[in-house]
Parts: sequence; structure tokens; C-alpha cells
Amino acid sequence: MRIPTESIRDVLNRRLSRRRVLASGGGLAALSLASDAVWAQAPASPLGFEPVAGTADDRVDIPQGYGVDVVLRWGDPLFSDAPALEPERVSDGVLFEAGSAQVQARQFGYNCDGIGLFPIDDDRMLMCVNHEFPNPSLLFPGWSEALPTRSWGELMRRNPEAVAYMQASVGISVVELVHDGAWKYVIDSPFNRRITANTPIEMVGPAGRHPLLGGPDDDSPVTALGTLCNCAAGTTPWGTYLTAEENVDIFFGNFDAASLTPDLERAYARLPPRPRDSRFRWEYADPRFDVEANPHESLRFGWIVEIDPFAPDRAVKKRTALGRLKHEGATAVLARDGRAVVYTGDDQEFEYLYKFVTAERFDPERPELNRDLLDNGTLYVARFLDDGGGEWLPLVFNGHAALTPETGFESQGDVVLRCREAADRIGATPLDRPEDVAVSPVTGAVYLACTQGVNRGRTDDVPGGRQIDRGTDAANPRAPNRWGHILEIAENGADAAAETFRWEVFMLCGDPASGNLRATPPAADQAPADTDVTYFGGSTDADALSAFANPDNLSFDSAGNLWIVTDGTQPRDNNNGCFVCPTLGDHRGDVRQFMSGPIGAEICGCEITADGRTLFLTVQHPGEGGSAVNPISNWPDGGTATPRPSLVAIEPTDPDRKLGE
Ligand code: FEO
Ligand code: CA
Ligand code: CA
Repeated sequence: MRIPTESIRDVLNRRLSRRRVLASGGGLAALSLASDAVWAQAPASPLGFEPVAGTADDRVDIPQGYGVDVVLRWGDPLFSDAPALEPERVSDGVLFEAGSAQVQARQFGYNCDGIGLFPIDDDRMLMCVNHEFPNPSLLFPGWSEALPTRSWGELMRRNPEAVAYMQASVGISVVELVHDGAWKYVIDSPFNRRITANTPIEMVGPAGRHPLLGGPDDDSPVTALGTLCNCAAGTTPWGTYLTAEENVDIFFGNFDAASLTPDLERAYARLPPRPRDSRFRWEYADPRFDVEANPHESLRFGWIVEIDPFAPDRAVKKRTALGRLKHEGATAVLARDGRAVVYTGDDQEFEYLYKFVTAERFDPERPELNRDLLDNGTLYVARFLDDGGGEWLPLVFNGHAALTPETGFESQGDVVLRCREAADRIGATPLDRPEDVAVSPVTGAVYLACTQGVNRGRTDDVPGGRQIDRGTDAANPRAPNRWGHILEIAENGADAAAETFRWEVFMLCGDPASGNLRATPPAADQAPADTDVTYFGGSTDADALSAFANPDNLSFDSAGNLWIVTDGTQPRDNNNGCFVCPTLGDHRGDVRQFMSGPIGAEICGCEITADGRTLFLTVQHPGEGGSAVNPISNWPDGGTATPRPSLVAIEPTDPDRKLGE
């Protein structure tokens, strides 16, 4: 395999001049990258808004000239037969009451994270929203206050309705939105729908009938109940929603590897559930979440799930071809030949970046052929070389000497089920929590958020006995990496299906005013960088940059500005927020803060409408760290209200302006 050797700048510059020629000629192939179509409107201009200052206050700040609307809050009814949540009664224990779960299943769910936009026309869309996990200390009085940790399970055993409530609060909301002066949601839209931890979902693809999933004996596909820990997301060219199951291990308790069959023990080795109590204690009221009682159940989670928001009756499917891991998100683009490519990070320290390339091409004329495109194709994992080159290594049964019956793999089903182990064996590069991926519509370059690597540089034994080098390398140059970084990847030939790439560090996050702002990223042969060394895409004016850390979700506007939302402790003790910077031209890396969130929240979502006018963000777990009785945030309702995870829309007040201008 030939890995290109020129610099990533040369690759991107050449690509831009070629695109300029293409755009002026106007002859663009229908299936080329979206970037070709938008190049003409892609000036490398500075951002036009004054950045907001970071804050630790309990409010949402946005720049002057913009307005923000709370579109949907946890507990807002999606159907007129459901009552609205009464937030003032949460601290009284209303969610313990019989029937509360049934009501929640007809309302907007909890802890909104990734989103997908599905336009119907200029002023109407379907929106899919992930609800990642419950936060019982904010839902149930008693969880945090009076009880020792070991008693939380007993609380749930005595209150099975609370477990049912949490199961109804997670999953997905599909909601119709309409723009009528501002974005509002439509109660009783025929498209409105909740998918919860109990919705039947088909397991399909190479592990869809894997015996370790514990399906029926007759070899028919497995039906999973529900989807869990839905973190970030993506939308496909054929108009479906991909939702990523991330930290599914925390939902299952009573895991004891020694009590399992050798096959199950091996399947769990690299993604084990909790040995005693699960985080949410569901197993005390529902044995499905008790691994000892139901040893196959947890393997039905940790997948990419596909939903057609326009077809509420069509089966939801878990696409096992994309591997079982802690999927952060699923970013779908088209390769040059029309095959679909889905990038997905595995969000844990020292895990990997993957991409899946479909075997068949997307056909816009024949939608029925696109429906199961994600069941056949090649799953790859990334190896980052210290010289700036990189390879996509195929995770194919019998395609590599390490993925054969001799090494314990009997099928592609085994490879995807034990995806992390397979990636270990073929030499993938362990990264500092690889999270969301965004692809520039201007250059086709791929950006990967590596949120954090606090254990980078450690030399003691790796938990679980895994043999890896935790030292720095060029792609993970700081030890420890408290603030996170962003990698920039140029696929060979600007083709998302390429098997090689060039890459470089785009950003080493942190406080640029710390005195350690560099004009170039650290070279591979230099000593590991300290965690406070920063690099902002080449920007050198520290005072003009906004401090930020722990990049999580990424998105692009059509001008090639990268939008970044954060999840973690921020420099200067600020709350999490949303940040934006150009990736091209003289202002490359000039990060400005666009939004600051309330206390305790991470900021998620981060999707922009096609007209460039609205930024949708989700505010997840406001008030985390407080309790139902003693909230530390009252956002968005104010007063003494319980905090509510919510979807917000931010728009310029000037109807002729676009975001960021
Ligand atoms: Fe659910 Fe990796 O954030
Ligand atoms: Ca995330
Ligand atoms: Ca997160």
C-alpha cells in the first residue's frame, strides 16, 4: 500500500485549487463530495461576531446579534394525550409514582445529546434527538441525600417504577419542528415518536444471528429490546438517522467473567460490564440488566443503530457490520465512487478510530436499494504513523493472519463482536478518547476530536492486562493530555474510501494564554509535550483566542468553519460551551467562543441548518453534581426549578446574516 508523503497543507492546497477550477467550470459529478458544490461560497474570512467570555454562571450566553430559543425541554409532551412534566414536583418524588414511565414515553426524553436534522422544506424538518442516560440523583429524591451508595440498588428494588421511568427517559425522540418566527415543535405530528430502552430493534449484519447474542435457536435474527447510551449521531445520504451506542457497559451489573463460558468471557474481555452494581441500578428491578441472570443481553448493545424518521413503521436496525465498541458517533459521507463511508470513534482512552465503507454504491434513484447498504462492506481501523502518514487497516475475517480460526475468529460475526480485540491484533493506534468526526464540506478533510487522555504517559500496568504502550506518539503528543486535541486527516485523493491518508495535529486545546502557545505542532521526535502546551492551528495571537478544552462533538458550516462543543473541565473554571474557528486561510485556528452553557452541563448536538441560519445545540445534564432536592442549576426555567436537559436553537437576529458571519 502506498502512503503519500507530501505535507497535509500541500494536499489540501492542491485540492482547493482543483476545486476552484471545477467550480468555475460548473461541471460537477452528482456524486462527488459535497465540498465541490460549496467551494464558490467558501471564502477564508474571519468570523464576524464578538466572542462571548467564558463564565461559571448558570445561564446561556451567546454573542450580540443572536437570539436563542429553548425548543424542547425534558418532559415536554410530544403528544396531546400526555401531560407536561411538572418540574416543581420532581423534588417531591413525583417520578416514583405509578404511571410516570408511561407518561415519560410520550414526552421528550432526558439528557439530550446527538441530533440529526431532516429538512422537509425551508421552514419544516424532522429532528432526531438522542437521550444518552438518566441522572438518578437529579430525578429521585433520596438517591444522593440520605442513602449510602450501596443502598441505591435497594431504593430501585423498592421502586420498580423508577427503573421503568429511566428506561422510558433514554433512547431517541423523533419530533417535527416548524419555523414560525422561531423554531417550535409540533405536538401530535404523525412523525413524532419515542424509541426507548424497551423498543424492539432488529439485529442485522454479520453478527445479527451470532449465537453469543442469545437469539432464538432456529437461527433467525435477534430482536434486541431498546437502545442505550445514545451519544452522538449522524445522518445518511439516504435520509436516515444513525445513533451511536456508547458507554453501554455502565447499564449492566453483576458481571463475573469467571462464571461465564469461555466464548462469552472472551466476547466481554475488551468491553466488560460492571462487576457489581451498574451505575443506574436497573438490575435490582429488571433482571435483563443483570449479567449473571442474562449473560447475553449486554452484547446486544454497543452498536450503530439506524432509524428512518420518515417511516415510523419501518423496523429500527442495529447495524452490526460497524462493530461493537463505545461508538461516539457516526459521520456519513460519500466516497468518490458513490459508496457510503461512516466514520466512528470509540470513546475511551487508548481506543481507536474506525470507518466503514459500504460494498455497494448509494443510488439516489432507487431508495429501496439503500435501505440495507450498511449491512455489507469493509470495516477499517486507523493506524497513525509518526511521519504524518496513516493507513486504514481492514478488519476482515481471514483478511489478516491475526483474524483467522488460528487466533480464535471463526467468522466476520466474531470480528465485529470482538471488534476492539481484532483492532488490537492488527496494529491500530490507541488514541486519547477519539470522539466525534466532522468532514469539511470545502476540502473533504476529516477532523477528529480526541477529548482527553489523562492516563497518557503512564508506565504502570494497563488495567485488564492489555499490552499497549501508553507513551506519547505524534498523534497523541501530550502526557498527560488533560485538555484534549483535534486531529486533521486528508484522505488520499480526497476519497473517503481511501486506504491511506495524511494527518496532522490541528489543535492542542487548553488555555492559549498559559504562555505555551506554539506556532507549529510538536514534532514526533520531540519530547512529550506538557499538558499546558497549546497549538491553535497556527494562530499566534493568544489574546485573540478563546480558551477551551475537551472537544467532544464537531460540525462544519458551508464556509469551512469548524464548530466545536465541549464536555469536561474547562480552563479558567468556565462552564462548557460552543466554539468556532476557520480551518482555512489566514484565520485558520482563530477560535472564538460562540456560546456558554449553564452550570454542570456538557454541550452537545451542534448541527447547522442547510441555509446556514440556525445552530441547534443540546444542553445535556445541567445541574450535574447537584441533586433533586438541592439543585445547583435552575436552567432553563429559572427560579428554583429543577434543571432540564433541553434542545436550543440559535439564530442571527438580522434575517440576512448567516451564523458566524
Ligand atoms: Fe457520550 Fe463520548 O460522549
Ligand atoms: Ca459525546
Ligand atoms: Ca460527552
